[in-house]
Amino acid sequence: MKILIVANWKMNPASLKEAKNLFDSVKKGVRNIKNVEVVLCPPFVYLPALSERGLASVIKLGAQDCFWEESGAFTGEVSPRQLKNLGVKYVILGHSERRKYLKEETDEIVSRKLGACLKVGLKPILCVEKLSQLKGIKKDIIVAFEPISAIGTGKAFDVEKAKSARKAIKNNFVLYGGSLNSENAKDYIEKAGFKGLLIGGASLKGEEFIKITKSVDLISKI
Ligand code: PGA
Repeated sequence: MKILIVANWKMNPASLKEAKNLFDSVKKGVRNIKNVEVVLCPPFVYLPALSERGLASVIKLGAQDCFWEESGAFTGEVSPRQLKNLGVKYVILGHSERRKYLKEETDEIVSRKLGACLKVGLKPILCVEKLSQLKGIKKDIIVAFEPISAIGTGKAFDVEKAKSARKAIKNNFVLYGGSLNSENAKDYIEKAGFKGLLIGGASLKGEEFIKITKSVDLISKI
């Protein structure tokens, strides 16, 4: 599997026009990369339009959450099946911002969502900040290690400490996330041994995101 670079746009940008512009510039900028799969995770509302725009072979679409049922009376929710039918491949689950602001986003709920994604063939990316959140989680699930102190703070986690955390996580495919930029990104692959990155703030700046992707693409072996 290629190195994964996941862009978590969170609740940005403010308009479809801006979302299309960002998408188009990333698509153009990463078209020649070889060793990286880029996963763009815009807000739900932009997924259909971006999906129709056509994906470069290295780009996949992801969602930032989903519900655990396939259909029914669940006002305001989006099901894994609906995402799958739009051409979405990945779903971020259990992001610390959801765990913090939506109190019902417990480990149990996250694990239900995970099961629902797997059932329809979507690939979940499970965000954790501590090992206990991996209890009962199968080894083949993609995990994103995201220490709270590093998320959106500009203070990326120490590379050596990140490496220890990565070793403690027994899952086959572990990403690092938290205050990544084009200066520090490749250290987490090269020095800390992560198999990919989850990028928030820097994924909203097209050029910076492309720069990160290219810097990681140059690392041929992981
Ligand atoms: P950040 O966010 O890159 O802005 O720190 C990462 C994340 O929340 O996934």
